[in-house]
Formats: sequence, structure tokens, C-alpha cells
Amino acid sequence: MRVPINKPILGEEEKKLVLRVLESGTLTNASLSGGPMVRRFEEEFAEFIGVRHAIAVNSGTAALYASLLALNIGPGDEVLVPSFTFLATANVILLVGAKPVFVDISLEDYNIDVQDLERKITQKSKAVIPVHLYGFPAKMEEIMEIAEKYGLYVIEDACQAHGSLYKGKKAGSIGHLAAFSFYPSKVITTGEGGMITTNDDELAEKLRSIRTHGQLKGYDSVRLGFNLRMPEMEAAVGIAQLGKIKYFLEKRRENAYRLMEFLDNPNIVKPFEDDERKHNWYLFTVRFDCQETRDRALKKLREEGIGATIYYDPPVHLTPLYSQLGYSKVPLPRTEQASKTVLSLPVHPLVEEEDLKLIAEILNRL
Ligand SMILES: Cc1ncc(COP(=O)(O)O)c(C=O)c1O
Repeated sequence: MRVPINKPILGEEEKKLVLRVLESGTLTNASLSGGPMVRRFEEEFAEFIGVRHAIAVNSGTAALYASLLALNIGPGDEVLVPSFTFLATANVILLVGAKPVFVDISLEDYNIDVQDLERKITQKSKAVIPVHLYGFPAKMEEIMEIAEKYGLYVIEDACQAHGSLYKGKKAGSIGHLAAFSFYPSKVITTGEGGMITTNDDELAEKLRSIRTHGQLKGYDSVRLGFNLRMPEMEAAVGIAQLGKIKYFLEKRRENAYRLMEFLDNPNIVKPFEDDERKHNWYLFTVRFDCQETRDRALKKLREEGIGATIYYDPPVHLTPLYSQLGYSKVPLPRTEQASKTVLSLPVHPLVEEEDLKLIAEILNRL
């Protein structure tokens, strides 16, 4: 695709720090605190998000998985989660032996619907994983209130939400725990990589041991863990990327608002922001009146080399794996409607003004 949906931007800063790792000979560090690059990346990321602790791991999936382990969630427990998300958000629940309970979304913001959330809470509910889909924050205040009322943990899936804001706070600083991804499509990348953020000292300590086999000092596992460590070279890339995040976010915002201005078709629902919730513009997602128009738009954009992409069709509960588990019968009408009518458009920093005009022209003509 001439204009991919997202693309990593790497430069001299990344090369310099990676070379420093290679010259040092320390490629990883299995101790509780990790190697020097990992420690620096964690400190700088925690400061950026505005939390006490950041724990680097080797993927966003690992960040979610470790979070569930740290909260002792397992067989017999239920975890509330949207189906309109990337598979990993639900898969980690199955991986720890717990049961995902799918909650419908709101068509206003494609995030978890707080009324459906409260309706689906049972005696077995232990946690909720709200996803800040496309980088737009879920209704965290309402979610935290419900969680407190029923004694649930909140794990924010902030894998798409680096730099998004909810009432002036960064996404990933509000729940008990939050998971970020640094996959190459994300706002900043380390290749593969993830981060857990929290203000809870005890959970942070527990997570540090979970990412290295539950050890404290070495060969002394006190709990079940795994190898979820982030290598030093990835942390080095992450430090350089974090140094540029302000510029990346500004450029995305600029592109998103240009596209917003050029788009002029009353049958297309555009994304929005308000006083409380600010996008990081990871994706600019529009919605059409029906699947036929959406699919036609996708085809026309692709023909012009624009990497427009559908996130997500099918939603998790309708994938073959979850269908086999019986989840396809769960009624989630707004999730299903969104999956048939949304389309995400590129607004990353490398998208040019002519590309934004071309995207708008194609969509305005539909
Ligand atoms: C919403 C969401 N959750 C979880 C993940 C998993 O992250 P990773 O691919 O780094 O494992 C991703 C990213 O791919 C994601 O977009």
C-alpha cells in the first residue's frame, strides 16, 4: 500500500541507542529490576503516563496476561470484556482459565457500554478490561464507579492509547493496572513489546517477578510466572521513540483535524472529541450507513493505494475459536453492527495532505 494504515518511524536516535546495547554486550537481564535500558524506558514511560510504576514486558498480550496473573484471576472467575477488540484482550482470560463475559459497546465511541457492563456482573465477576479502542478513552469514571460498587479490578487495555487523555489524565493511569503494546503499528514501537502501568506498589513488585518466572533473586520462584521480559535492544528503541512521542501525537492530531475538515458526507459518521476525552488519533475510524457502502469505500480506497482497514470484523465472539466455545450465540447487536460498518483511515505522521484530500474525495463521492 502506498499509504499504509500505520507505519513505524525510526531514525538515528534508535540506531544510536541500539548500538550502545550491542557494544555493552548486555542483551537482557533476568533480575527483578531488569537491565539498564529496560529500567530507563520504564522510568520515562511511567513519567509520561503519570503513574508510580511501569513494568516492561515483551508484548501487549504479555502485559494483559501478567496483569490477570497478578490479580490471581483463574478458573471459576469471570472477566468482563468487549468483543469489539483485538483477540488478545479476550484470549488472555482463557489462557488463565477464567471465563470471558462479553459486553456490548456504545456506537457513539465503540467502547464498552457501561449499562451493559453493570447488567452482566455476577457473583463470579472479578475484573473488567475496558479497551480504549482506536485510541479513544473509554468512560473511565463510570467504569471505576461500577467497579468499586461490585468490588472488581479494572485493567485498562491501553494497547492503542499511548497519550490519550481522559479528564486530563493519561489513559493507563486510571485503572488498577493498564496494558500498553509497542507493536510496529502503534503510536510508538519497540518491534514487539509491552508495558504495564500501575500506582499500586504491591502489584508492581508482583508483576516484576511474574515477568521472570516468579523469581525474586534467582531460582527461588515464589509464584507462577513466565519469561515475559523485554530485551535491552527493544527498550533502547522504546526510549528513542518515547523521545519523539510529542511530535508524533501532534502530527496525528493535525492530520486527523485536516481529514475531519475535508470529509463532507452526511452519511458518514466521523470520530469526535469532547472536553473530557482526547484521542491520540491512533486510528481515524468512520462509520457508514450499511455494510455495502463500507465495503465499496474500502475497495475504492485500496485501489488508490490507501491502506484503509477494518478493525474488527469479525468481532472476537464470532471468530471460529469463540464460536466453538458457544459465544456466537451471545447477543451483542451494536458490536455486530459496528463490525459491519466501520472503516479505519490512516492519519499517522507520514500521511501527506494530498493523501488526506484524496481519502476525503473518495468518501465524499460515495
Ligand atoms: C486492543 C489491543 N489489545 C491487545 C493487543 C496486543 O498487543 P501485542 O500485539 O503487543 O501483543 C493489541 C495490539 O495488537 C491491541 O490493539
